[in-house]
Amino acid sequence: MKDMDSKSVASQKKGRLVCVGTGLNLAGQITVLSQSYIEQADLVFSLMPDGFAERWVKRLNKNVRSLQPFYAQKGEVKNRRDTYAQMVDAIVTEVRLGKQVVCALYGHPGVFACVGHRAIEQLQNEGYFAHMEPGVSAEACLWADLGVDPATSGHQSIEASQFMFYQQSISPAAYLVLWQIGLAGEYTLTKFHTSFDKLQVLVNLLQQWYPLEHEVILYEAATLPIQSPRIDKLMLKDLPQARLTDISTLCIPPCETLQFNHQVLAQLGITANDLG
Ligand SMILES: C[S@@+](CC[C@H](N)C(=O)[O-])C[C@H]1O[C@@H](n2cnc3c(N)ncnc32)[C@H](O)[C@@H]1O
Repeated sequence: MKDMDSKSVASQKKGRLVCVGTGLNLAGQITVLSQSYIEQADLVFSLMPDGFAERWVKRLNKNVRSLQPFYAQKGEVKNRRDTYAQMVDAIVTEVRLGKQVVCALYGHPGVFACVGHRAIEQLQNEGYFAHMEPGVSAEACLWADLGVDPATSGHQSIEASQFMFYQQSISPAAYLVLWQIGLAGEYTLTKFHTSFDKLQVLVNLLQQWYPLEHEVILYEAATLPIQSPRIDKLMLKDLPQARLTDISTLCIPPCETLQFNHQVLAQLGITANDLG
């Protein structure tokens, strides 16, 4: 009943929002559906990795407004919480005016990206129709470029600073993907880089599970068809000296093999031999 009520309210309100992902690599990683949403929108908000991608979105729709200016401009100190709140406000305001709005974000619009989720939640609470279309995320590119099926051992995917600030339990038998490694330990939400010292704290933390000589991978997916991905292998202990950018992701392969859970196998009435 609640669902029917919200649907009927939504149908009375003309404005609507679709959040779409444009993938990482220019023009080729967007779904047919997401591209058609962009082409047909009254207004498109966009957050793209570079000027090439911005110009490509502008060729799809003549009413594109970049969300980039909401970030701190040269010399300005601005908390990213304020940036994200202002982005959400801008999007929600246009939907309330009755427009068909698209928010086009690079990668997957809802993976390690809060603006789309918040705008959708707010608009749905107000009775508007708002939804998200999936996109190709950095992690989807990572598995493809590294030639790894994460199913072999399972994987954990965590924002680097969150991993440092909170107790997270890690399985060294699984892949670990640390997002926003270039911001690791940046707690003020006003800077766009980490430091040698913060990365050293991260290395010390990771040492609980991994040897300092363990090979880790700094990954950057190509954002242009003419580029190759960055796949730099280095020892964990060398991470603080590594060149990190705002698009770097750290992938840590397992340093242990999976161990059988004999207790559960016994409950299932089988032994490790039964698993081949
Ligand atoms: C705010 S998150 C946005 C993620 C994006 N929504 C996605 O689906 O990939 C930014 C982080 O994504 C990762 N990232 C973004 N672009 C990347 C790229 N070209 N290659 C590898 N990782 C990337 C990095 O960890 C970066 O710090």
